[in-house]
Amino acid sequence: MPRMTIPMLNEKRAAGEPIVMVTAYDYPGARAADRAGVDMVLVGDSGAQVVLGHASTVAVTTDEMLVLAGAARRGTESALLVCDVPFGSTEASDAQAVETAVRFAKEAGADAVKLEGGNEDRLDRIRAIVSAGVPVVGHVGLTPQTATALGGLRAQGRTIESAVRVVEEAVGVQEAGAFCVVVEAVPAEITELLKEVLRIPIIGIGAGSGHGQVLVLHDLLGITEGRAAKFVKRYAAIGEDMVAAVTAYADDVRSGAFPTAEHQYAASPEAVEAARQ
Ligand code: KIV
Ligand code: NA
Repeated sequence: MPRMTIPMLNEKRAAGEPIVMVTAYDYPGARAADRAGVDMVLVGDSGAQVVLGHASTVAVTTDEMLVLAGAARRGTESALLVCDVPFGSTEASDAQAVETAVRFAKEAGADAVKLEGGNEDRLDRIRAIVSAGVPVVGHVGLTPQTATALGGLRAQGRTIESAVRVVEEAVGVQEAGAFCVVVEAVPAEITELLKEVLRIPIIGIGAGSGHGQVLVLHDLLGITEGRAAKFVKRYAAIGEDMVAAVTAYADDVRSGAFPTAEHQYAASPEAVEAARQ
């Protein structure tokens, strides 16, 4: 498959072909996504939770994200690789935001970075990063990095004030130069409205269909434990398979069923005799 580009994503949007995005945080995850033919791989800061075990996305550092992103890069051949810039890595100034975005491009090989939010500061950061030459994906609606300020991990755009804000931020993000926008946890009607207003592709998550979808890989694989968000669809139960496989291995070791001759190396009788001396 040819390598995905921003113009190709725009063509898909224009042709009404849904765009597929999925997260990945390491080499095998990215390989699986790429082999499945997704259009975009997102190294989400959801990795803070699903691979690093933190309670929220806030804790993950730029250095940690760069390790995950580099591994995902090595596993991605065709998909466009987008990396989340973590909380605290762009807030201080435009200069800090550019420095962070450039690190993702240079050190991890990111094709683009994703920034949450659409207030005036965020729009300044998007403009600065885009003019430094790193493409940007916006992210509006529920923005987990600042969920505390939004009153928790809850759907946005359900009240008049919130609906207006989601639309204003999405338009702002586009005008600031983002080539694509993720819309998270908003009513599908708001996403439909955004499709009429915006000219960039809209990627939904818990937001109706948009021009495409994104899901967290570990959620769709069924690795994430506990109750999933309303918008998650599970396509496998890999978490259970992982426990079952390790349990079977442990049972085999304890019963002596593993290892057997087929998993062992053979030596010549002479070598064994010599070693005995
Ligand atoms: O971090 C993430 O996985 C995300 C997607 C859910 C959009 O930002
Ligand atoms: Na994220």
